[in-house]
Amino acid sequence: MEKYEVSYKAPSNIALVKYWGKKGLQKPINPNLSFSLSVCHTVTRVVFRKGVGKTSCFVKGEKNDNFLPKINAFIDRISPEFNEINDYKIDIYTHNTFPHGSGIASSASGFAALALCIADIYAQINNEPLDELFKQRASTWARLGSGSAARSIYGGFVSWGSLKGTTSKEYTEDFATPIPNTNIHPTFHDLRDTILLVENQEKAVSSSSGHALVENHFYKQGRLHQANNNYIECQERLMDGDKEGLKKIIESEALSLHALMQSSIPYFVLMKPNTLNIIQKLWAWREQNKLWAVFTLDAGANVHLIHLNKDKDLVEKFVQKELTTFCENGAYICDHIGEGPKKLN
Ligand code: PMV
Repeated sequence: MEKYEVSYKAPSNIALVKYWGKKGLQKPINPNLSFSLSVCHTVTRVVFRKGVGKTSCFVKGEKNDNFLPKINAFIDRISPEFNEINDYKIDIYTHNTFPHGSGIASSASGFAALALCIADIYAQINNEPLDELFKQRASTWARLGSGSAARSIYGGFVSWGSLKGTTSKEYTEDFATPIPNTNIHPTFHDLRDTILLVENQEKAVSSSSGHALVENHFYKQGRLHQANNNYIECQERLMDGDKEGLKKIIESEALSLHALMQSSIPYFVLMKPNTLNIIQKLWAWREQNKLWAVFTLDAGANVHLIHLNKDKDLVEKFVQKELTTFCENGAYICDHIGEGPKKLN
């Protein structure tokens, strides 16, 4: 065919057990686990036209070359499996519902949406169905763009990576795997994530350079041990509904991620004073109100407040009264666990 055109919407995700440190071609050194969001997502349309020409990218309708180095590297990585891709000129039209580089994983939803579009065109060219294998291919390709993007191919809770010492088929580093809802206690079925935007700008250190610093990190072995344990325990707590147990894992993972950054050589700090202000206010408030609300952090200064749907109004009141003062322009996003990507007409 002369032309293919396809659109997908893909969500961002928030990790409860963090992926930090890679090996080989964007494989995680430790297994990790996230849930996919809903409000924070990327919408991407990809057009393949027969012929040779440079790939172009348009963000919110305007030509934008900033992402091209990453997109071209991504296309180079998938072309050994998708030879025909070189016979087409590719145009990408994309937009996010949240600020790029704000510490919300925009590369996760961005590469997930792009990989789904390209895997869909691959399936059309090769007369293949859009089945589970298609999703695994999309997840594998998304991973080659940005590791955490592998998880954004699915909705709900998603895991990615192998447990140390296992070769079980259940655990693969190539692509992410959805955790069936039957393995999740009803308590956690409708989790919410209120994202406090402490900093709305591009982060100072990219996650790629952060991952690289784990390689020779003094605490690498300890981290691997901790992450493997947390990964197993996180799944157990999600299954048995133990909120207190899950809280400890989620917050310890966030602080460990930032402790790794702060103790690598060179060291760096992505938290801001307001990140800590929010955490302290949260701890005091939940102690007083006996509510389950837990923080986590990505590679940035923003704070993700994970809480239950039934406490949504109380949490929002607390956010408005006590936390927006620590957010840039008072901004926050009310998000929740989502169903995963969707093909658009
Ligand atoms: O996908 P990357 O390379 O941007 O790495 C993201 C790593 C964290 O967001 C910090 C943790 C995670 O598992 O999402």
